[in-house]
Amino acid sequence: MSVGELSRRSVLRGVGFTALGGVAGFVLAHGSDAAKAKRSTAAANSYGPGPKAGNETLTTLAELSDGGGVVTQGVVITRDASGDVHAFSATCTHQGCTVAAPSGSGTLDCPCHGSRFDADTGEVIQGPAVRPLPAVAVSVQGDRVVRG
Ligand code: FES
Repeated sequence: MSVGELSRRSVLRGVGFTALGGVAGFVLAHGSDAAKAKRSTAAANSYGPGPKAGNETLTTLAELSDGGGVVTQGVVITRDASGDVHAFSATCTHQGCTVAAPSGSGTLDCPCHGSRFDADTGEVIQGPAVRPLPAVAVSVQGDRVVRG
């Protein structure tokens, strides 16, 4: 038996043990509780929260003056001059900063690069963002504005 054969045999044995260890680790990890935890089926996106169950109170009408709004839980909620409530993802479609609530100007302004969105429609008024803020479904139940 030469030194070359011993080295080759040692290498093959080492590779075999490594592969066996990898397979054993995979089998153990795959069956663990950590592997089974929280596999979301909701369609996530980078521009806002995914869908959630209804009746989650986001704000109250008392907190929404006409022409004003609030940012809460990743959602910007606005109320136009006629009293209608609108809601959008608060995540700017440019690079993901959180837009500010309207301050009476009728726009949702992003503090990062200056994008401005219409507070009633979410449409882009000024770039660099090119896509509107996605609408979030809300409803008014009594004095509460709830998701869904
Ligand atoms: S992240 Fe909002 S303008 Fe760039």
